[in-house]
Parts: sequence; structure tokens; C-alpha cells
Amino acid sequence: MTTTDLETTARALVAGGKGILAADETVSTVSKRLEAHRIESTADSRRAYREMFFTTPGIAEFLSGVILQDETIRQRSSKGTRLADVLAQQGILPGIKVDHGAKPLAGSLGETVTEGLDGLRDRLKEYRGMGARFAKWRAAIAIGDKRPSSACVSANAHALARYAALCQEEGLVPIVEPEVLMDGSHPIERCEEATGAVLHPVFDALFDQRLSLEGLLLKPNMIISGRECSREAAVDEVAQATLRCLRRHVPVAVPGIVFLSGGQNHVVATEHLNAINRLDGPKPWKLTFSYGRALQDEALRAWLGKRENVDAGQQAFYHRAQCDSAAALGQYTSAMEVERAIA
Ligand code: 13P
Repeated sequence: MTTTDLETTARALVAGGKGILAADETVSTVSKRLEAHRIESTADSRRAYREMFFTTPGIAEFLSGVILQDETIRQRSSKGTRLADVLAQQGILPGIKVDHGAKPLAGSLGETVTEGLDGLRDRLKEYRGMGARFAKWRAAIAIGDKRPSSACVSANAHALARYAALCQEEGLVPIVEPEVLMDGSHPIERCEEATGAVLHPVFDALFDQRLSLEGLLLKPNMIISGRECSREAAVDEVAQATLRCLRRHVPVAVPGIVFLSGGQNHVVATEHLNAINRLDGPKPWKLTFSYGRALQDEALRAWLGKRENVDAGQQAFYHRAQCDSAAALGQYTSAMEVERAIA
């Protein structure tokens, strides 16, 4: 695969108001989500859960790609089709999470570094053979007293860049995800400062490892107040701080920025994306979604693991993806929520 092919794939992932569904929770994370709704977590219930999303009629109108996880990319639908093919047949690009999770960073008090570089080249080859066209690696960076530390930021930036270089070598578009977590009581200004202090070394590391910026996507957090902050920043304030931070730190050569939802309420995540896209001034990259919880939560509540609820789950998912897609074009309105409530 050439640099041009990587760029074509990266651009396709952010084109036309479409975005990405992050359905790449590990077995342990998705099990917690299912069990919170008293749904037993088995390989088959996890398959049924993912299949509900992937077979939602008309969903390709809003989704360019789906991030899978190792178990899911190896599974087949109830009709016997590989789940990656169920997506590809609709023109939705299959992607794959390839990191092995955030592990305690030696010598630090509670910070993490994401692992998974050993053997990554071979795993990427295998996933490419299974139809994956892009990949994801998430670093988790906490805000707190003396955090993030430069040791944590530089270790994660280096790992992200080495992962991304291996992806491009194997013809997969890397999604580079340095997530600054929303946990904490910090104000929005602190999130902006920390996110900038993370993005800068991440792009330094990508430059050092000779990445083609045209052939990758950035998956950042939005700039928001900490979950326990006494003042929740307004939607417009979030949009302005987010765009300001990205303008300061993300090169124009990057084709797209695909936000994570990070624990935000699903409607708020839509409102934020919409407000960002409606701001005036230069927005040299496509700005869209790569949400996990914010796209799935309503559908999970409607489904509850029951076959007879698949339609209701799919309707909830379709509606949320439609809202997020409108937000990626700056065309979302709150009336879209009311329309669903009436329907
Ligand atoms: P959330 O949108 O639930 O944060 O998930 C996105 C993701 O891929 C986190 O790695």
C-alpha cells in the first residue's frame, strides 16, 4: 500500500458527515456494560450485541467505519457471515483496536502507559488479512496533582508513534488516541492546558518516527470541565476551547479529527460536536465522531439482550448516529431529539 492509499482511506473515514463507531471494548469492559443491565456476557451475547449495531438498516449513511476488537473480528454473524464482511458489504470500513491496554507506569504513582508493541507487526499483518483497513491505539492520561507527568506523556507519545509507524508500514491507517481523561474536579482551562501539553509531544513523536500525517487520524478528547468540577462549561465554551487547542497543536496535513465521547452524556456529545463544526474561522481538518458509549448506550438500554428488542435497539442506534452525523456537518438541532421522542 502506498502513502496515497493510506491517505485515501483516512479521508474516506471522515468524509461526508460520516463518523466511526467504536465497538472495540475489551471482553472485560463490554462484559461490565452488559452485566450492568443484567445481560449475561458470553461470546454469543457479545456477538449478538455487536451484530445488532452492524446490521442496523441504513446505518452506512452515517458510519464510515467501525473499530472492532480481537474477539469480534474473528466472529461470524447469526447468518454465518464474518462480522468484518457484514460491515465491508455495506461500504463500512472495518478497523481494529491493537493496543493491550493501559498498564501501571513503573516509577509513577498511578499513571499508566499503554502496552502492546511486542509482536505488533505480525498481529497487524493478520488483521489486514482479515479485512481491517485501519487501527486504533489509546493512551489514557489523567489530570491531577502533578499529572500528567512528563514521564507519562513522553512514554505514551513514543508508544503511539511506534504503533502508528508499524500500521502505516502494514497499510493500515492508524488512529492515534491520546485521551486526556475527564475524571477530576479540574476546570475546563486545566483540560485545555493538559491536552495541549499532550498533543504537542505526540506530534513531535509522530514526526520523529517519520509518519505520513496525511495517512493518519487523531482521536482526541474534547476540552471539557472535569466530571466533578463545580462549574460545567457551556457548550459554546467547550467548542471554542476545543477548536483553539486543536488549531494550536494539530498540523493541517492531518485529514481528520475523530473525537471520543469519554463518558459525556450522549446528547451533550452531539451538541459539542455540532457547536465545534459551527464555529467560524479555519477548520482545516474534518471534525467528526468516533464514539463508543455515546453511540451505544441508548441502544443497549432498548435491547437488554432480548431478541424481540433488536428492532428497538437498532432504531435507537440509527437515531443517535443520524444526530451525530448531522453534528459532524454542523446541522444538528435539538428538534431532532424531539422528533424521535414523538416517533
Ligand atoms: P468512548 O466514546 O466511550 O469514550 O469510546 C471511544 C473510544 O474508542 C475510547 O477508546
